[in-house]
Amino acid sequence: MARVFLTRTMPGRAALMLAEAGHTVLTWPGELPPLAVELAAALTTADAALTTVVDFVAPAMLSRSPRLKVIANMAVGYDNVDPATAAGLGIWLTNTPGVLAETTADMAWALLMSAARNVALSDRETRAGAWRTWSPTGYLGVDVFGATLGIVGLGEIGQAVARRARGFNMPILYHSRTRKPELEESLGLVYRDLPALLAESDFVSLHTPLTPETRHLIGSAQLAAMKSSAILVNTARGGIVDQEALIAALRSGAIAGAGLDVTTPEPLPLESPLYAFPNVVITPHIASASLATRSRMAEMAAANILAVLAGKAPINPVNRPQLPRALDT
Ligand code: NAP
Ligand code: GLV
Repeated sequence: MARVFLTRTMPGRAALMLAEAGHTVLTWPGELPPLAVELAAALTTADAALTTVVDFVAPAMLSRSPRLKVIANMAVGYDNVDPATAAGLGIWLTNTPGVLAETTADMAWALLMSAARNVALSDRETRAGAWRTWSPTGYLGVDVFGATLGIVGLGEIGQAVARRARGFNMPILYHSRTRKPELEESLGLVYRDLPALLAESDFVSLHTPLTPETRHLIGSAQLAAMKSSAILVNTARGGIVDQEALIAALRSGAIAGAGLDVTTPEPLPLESPLYAFPNVVITPHIASASLATRSRMAEMAAANILAVLAGKAPINPVNRPQLPRALDT
């Protein structure tokens, strides 16, 4: 039977599903992910790998792994593996679309609300003993209800964010690669090009994948185009924002604040100036982190591995090898 490498201990039934199918499951025992050299070594003897967003699978690792037939990334984003290189070597790459959209949208809203209403800041200061009285001028934030929300990337998560905004009675603008007239109609969305969306929105929430086209999609020109009262929320990928430009914009007051679940790099080093801004909320890439959702993601990845190891196409492919590697008999 096949050897399946799991780069971390997974929640839910993923490991059991693979073991029950008769495969040998090798789980990386560390609390931290394998180092590049350790990952490369593990892949050389694996038939399948269940990876996470922090496992950067370099092309050379793939070419040195003759048995590898599938990498099942436990994430919807897959900027940590090159799909074309994998396909060229006959290796399937799969992801976990859909199952995490609602949970991730909840977190985008948590960051938006926290930045708008000083939730994290006032919690920190309350614990430090700063609550001396009720103050008419203390922790004044901005209203969320009725404010204009701009969504960049109207995929599964962007749409889930939009659905929530309707309850806050917000005008909703969106920018995406392709216009979506049906969603404009059903969710009451208004399409804008990116400069117009940035200029008109009180909150801008990013939901594109990280690709060569979206790297630094939000840079100094885009931040300068935003309202000085606006808040930027990023639950997508750190690389979509030019972080140095973001720091400069926060410093100069070009924008009012940010909610960041993703940064460059991750973890964000403690020396980063981002930590010094009271109007910035930072969480450690946890937008999909509910037990139910992370379990579904791991199980979906396991189901993709099981399909490939049974000689079938995976359920959630993001590439399509012309000649998938033959199964050992
Ligand atoms: P999705 O359903 O594929 O949606 C992505 C959307 O982005 C699509 O609507 C797509 O275009 C749009 N898009 C792509 N390139 C674009 C560009 N250059 N300009 C404007 N729009 C562009 O993916 P999803 O499930 O919503 O996830 C989005 C991303 O969130 C993932 O790729 C991942 O990186 C990130 N994520 C992060 C976490 C976390 O834990 N923080 C959790 C889940 C996901 P169309 O307009 O053509 O549809
Ligand atoms: C998490 O970051 C994902 O892409 O699912």
